[in-house]
Amino acid sequence: MTRTTLLSWHLVPFVTICLCLTNIFIAFRVHHAGVDETSAIFVREEFAISKRQLRHMIDEHSNTATTIQTPPFTTQESFGACALVLNQNHRMTEWIAYHYFALPLRSLIIAYDPKSTQRATDLLHRWKDVIDIIEWEEDDYLPINWTEAVTSQGPSDKPIERLIHEHRQVYFMQQCTVTLAAKNVSRVIHHDVDEYLRINTDIIKRYDTTRPGHITHFLNRQNTSEIRWLPNASCWLFVRLYFIPWNNATAERVHQNRDLSWIRSVPLETLSYRYRKTRAQQTGKGIIHLSHIPPTLLTGRKNNFEKWMNVHNPLGKPLCQGPWPVALSPLLLNHYLGSYEAYKFAAQWDPRFRDDSEWERRLARGKGEPVADDGIVNWVDAFVKWQSEDVARELLSDAGWRQNEQ
Ligand SMILES: *[C@@H]1O[C@H](CO)[C@@H](O)[C@H](O)[C@H]1NC(C)=O
Ligand SMILES: *[C@@H]1O[C@H](CO)[C@@H](O)[C@H](O)[C@H]1NC(C)=O
Ligand SMILES: *[C@@H]1O[C@H](CO)[C@@H](O)[C@H](O)[C@H]1NC(C)=O
Ligand SMILES: *[C@@H]1O[C@H](CO)[C@@H](O)[C@H](O)[C@H]1NC(C)=O
Ligand SMILES: *[C@@H]1O[C@H](CO)[C@@H](O)[C@H](O)[C@H]1NC(C)=O
Repeated sequence: MTRTTLLSWHLVPFVTICLCLTNIFIAFRVHHAGVDETSAIFVREEFAISKRQLRHMIDEHSNTATTIQTPPFTTQESFGACALVLNQNHRMTEWIAYHYFALPLRSLIIAYDPKSTQRATDLLHRWKDVIDIIEWEEDDYLPINWTEAVTSQGPSDKPIERLIHEHRQVYFMQQCTVTLAAKNVSRVIHHDVDEYLRINTDIIKRYDTTRPGHITHFLNRQNTSEIRWLPNASCWLFVRLYFIPWNNATAERVHQNRDLSWIRSVPLETLSYRYRKTRAQQTGKGIIHLSHIPPTLLTGRKNNFEKWMNVHNPLGKPLCQGPWPVALSPLLLNHYLGSYEAYKFAAQWDPRFRDDSEWERRLARGKGEPVADDGIVNWVDAFVKWQSEDVARELLSDAGWRQNEQ
């Protein structure tokens, strides 16, 4: 496998030469056809292949040459995810890689906010052999004239744009869950691409989080192990820990000590941000356990609309258990604020990120100093070891925020 992957890297210059030759050939033909100077110059400019084009070709090529290791769970035994995104391509690669490794994630439905100018299609392509991926536009999951019902709802404290967004989110969660249920997927997550589900190793001590699919392994073992961490429910909610840019000297030092120099140059969120607010965010996000859902809930979902209250309580109170305090919660979500530059980028479309005072508010610490929390960071080494260095390097190639590419 290593050999085939190396081969694909060696093919890059070859492919480049081919492209140049193609251009020369075109230029030659153009000249022969007796076209004037200006179009010859135009053709010469085509010699410069953009970085993006080249990367796309590498991706295309490596997809045929690279074998991605698969986790020890089938698609049905694994997790599906529903993610509604608005220009979050810079977060997607790391998020997919982590969840593919930890859950494992084997089905993914992406819906694009109507304001989104990016599509993730190119970066999703490399996962196609190991993750069942569906991309949705608005028409794919929203009923006709759905905003009419929202706007005729009467007075509300919230701006209408916010209400419409919340309804879109619930429609998406429903339709996505129903679609994944039809594929017999066991469990579904609905958290955002800046949130990472992980085992709380402070209480599940010495749990081996370097094993691919360790979260499914943990949940399946609940049946047989002496200690039952989670109640037998259709849905569990977990609190979120908010990671902020803070004291990054430590992160840099740890980063620089790594053996693999190429990882240092990949700006991974889970490695860059090691400090979180002491107190957890009280609104949780959940796992829906599809094999434990009352069958009528999904089929009769029109009547159940009000039960899908919001993203923080996907099936409503009676069916969801949790969230529990950090010290009792077997799983947690790491929630990353990200960099100021990425925040300003998102602010162009998201009215919630309106100005710098909102950034300051998000950064403002809760009680006490932010605390260091390295509970998630070992995933990168485990992922690289599992996939081999060459494959991991390709899979993570465009991860993280890069100013010049936005
Ligand atoms: C949707 O709205 C349009 C314009 O208001 C109307 O003509 C159409 O009949 C509506 N469709 C449905 C299915 O309600
Ligand atoms: C899901 O499970 C049902 C019942 O076991 C089966 O009839 C159906 O074919 C399965 N669907 C898929 C997509 O595997
Ligand atoms: C857990 O136990 C229940 C009831 O005994 C059983 O139906 C289910 O298949 C078990 N789940 C797993 C993942 O072993
Ligand atoms: C868990 O609940 C489901 C239905 O809600 C039930 O079928 C199953 O037997 C329960 N399992 C255990 C181990 O209690
Ligand atoms: C740490 O902060 C410095 C200065 O603010 C910045 O140049 C550097 O990129 C930051 N490093 C990380 C890993 O965020």
